[in-house]
Amino acid sequence: MSSYASADRRSTFSIVMGYSYTIQKRFTGPERKNRKTIVMDLGLKNKVMMVAASSKGLGFGIARQAALEGAMLSLGSRNQKNINEAADQIRQEVPDATVFASTLDVADPVSIERWMKNTIEELGTIDGLVVNGGGPPPGTFDEIDDSRWLAGYENTLMSAVRLIREVLPEMRRKQSGSILTITSSSIKEPIDNLLLSNVFRSGVTSLVKSLSFQVAPENIRINNLVPGLFDTERLKELDLRNSGEWRLSLENVRKINFDRIPMGRYGDPDEFGKAAVFLLSEAASYVTGETFIIDGGKMRTVW
Ligand SMILES: NC(=O)c1ccc[n+]([C@@H]2O[C@H](COP(=O)([O-])OP(=O)(O)OC[C@H]3O[C@@H](n4cnc5c(N)ncnc54)[C@H](OP(=O)(O)O)[C@@H]3O)[C@@H](O)[C@H]2O)c1
Repeated sequence: MSSYASADRRSTFSIVMGYSYTIQKRFTGPERKNRKTIVMDLGLKNKVMMVAASSKGLGFGIARQAALEGAMLSLGSRNQKNINEAADQIRQEVPDATVFASTLDVADPVSIERWMKNTIEELGTIDGLVVNGGGPPPGTFDEIDDSRWLAGYENTLMSAVRLIREVLPEMRRKQSGSILTITSSSIKEPIDNLLLSNVFRSGVTSLVKSLSFQVAPENIRINNLVPGLFDTERLKELDLRNSGEWRLSLENVRKINFDRIPMGRYGDPDEFGKAAVFLLSEAASYVTGETFIIDGGKMRTVW
């Protein structure tokens, strides 16, 4: 478990996203004892949160934080052993957590349908959905043939369309729900050699905004959360690839990346998870159609 993870057990989500951090900085030094912690009840207790691609990485970070907030979880990923282990880890950390784990391939419409149906059977309803999946493979324009374009479309764009389409009937029935898509900084700054991500994640972002208008009157919110560089297996793979291409040690590749991040380090998946659970929760009840970047200050765009 990371130091971030262990530092903030269970409590309701204090407004750590920014506000309490500002206060903490302001009172560093002798006045620090005056620091106030502002606590916010996220209202996630017993809410059913479905987190796709959650055996590892960012999806697991979100699931873990949601469990710490008292949510009931439906986890899914392709590998049965991985997803069962993830569920067991959460049960160990949060002994009263309700966790349903199932295989799920977000590229397969039948698998998505089965995950939704089983979740309602096991947990009774759906209050929130995290749209997540494996990242598209790298490649430049000259390297990507039609079959890879079509696979990118299915795996990245259509997976989001299908996951959202499956949860909407239940959310509409309840006139309540929150959906969060996970994309990439490629939607704002195209990444060299990740053309499929650049193209199809922009489509997901536009889908979020477009759909937000339609479902807001039904009290369903949809937002997009953009990771910068987070310490996960996916990032390790990308760093290793760059290490080979740039003929640099892995350590040097990481250092080059750290130097481009004002906070000087990769993010921890738990830090991403905290932002995600806030957006999924009632605490964000007036937030919809938005795209938020969590990147330690890396991106230089004003908007
Ligand atoms: N980490 C970053 O810094 C970063 C930055 C920008 C964007 N992203 C994007 O954020 C997403 C998550 O990244 P991550 O870093 O958390 O990756 P990760 O550590 O490699 O974890 C990927 C997770 O997705 C699951 N998965 C992969 N393909 C799946 C599929 N078809 N259906 C269901 N589950 C699937 C994997 O489990 P199984 O193997 O069991 O299926 C695993 O749980 C990716 O799309 C990635 O490109 C990450």
